[in-house]
Amino acid sequence: MYKHVYKPTFDGTVCLVRGYADQATCEQLTEWAQSARRAQFVPGISRDRDGRIHRVTTRLTNRMSHYIQYPKLVYDFQRRIRDDFRLATAPWIHGHGRDGVVVSITDDGGDVYAHRDPPVARGFSALRCNILASQAESGGLVHVANGTYELAAGDLMAYLVTDHTHSVDQCFGSLPRIMFMFGFEVLAEDWVAARHVPDLSVNPSGAQSEAHCEPKATIQDFQQARKKPSHAEEVSS
Ligand SMILES: [Fe+2]
Repeated sequence: MYKHVYKPTFDGTVCLVRGYADQATCEQLTEWAQSARRAQFVPGISRDRDGRIHRVTTRLTNRMSHYIQYPKLVYDFQRRIRDDFRLATAPWIHGHGRDGVVVSITDDGGDVYAHRDPPVARGFSALRCNILASQAESGGLVHVANGTYELAAGDLMAYLVTDHTHSVDQCFGSLPRIMFMFGFEVLAEDWVAARHVPDLSVNPSGAQSEAHCEPKATIQDFQQARKKPSHAEEVSS
């Protein structure tokens, strides 16, 4: 799973890494999600035209942590993301999913309404590094702030979910859209300054290109940040 060469892009809001997971890995992640959907997933929420929240069965999440038992592969990805995005000291996001990881399964007709995620520790933002394991046959465009992004299976998309409004267009077809979302608490200024953007490209000689600056946030910063009361929301893109 390691040793691949990628060329991340960053537009100041969203970092995209195409092909972060290979096809065989996406199939394994999809197989787990499909086998677990009955026992470990619950209906998601959506918002109707009047702004009222209601449950839907077209998008399932596994936010109820006591139901979740991830395969080793998920934790392998979490470690890999920590390494690649310089998140060694960043806490994962608690109170939503298990061990900072949430998975959603969106079936035909499902979508994600425009929202921001609930706040995390004071002074910090929630970064989600989302890997698309399976794409819907059509639809499923992702909107973050003023940008629109089209993902393929295996792509990773990362952005500050507490800072930017995001949504997903309605999905169509018999294939579910399955997203694995890895959450961490970071300083927004580190993200904007591209200090978490992975440096995964290599030059023609094979040498690693020049490293980015390390994030400013320290373990002490995280320890001092007092947690706000959690009101975990189950919507993620
Ligand atoms: Fe979200």
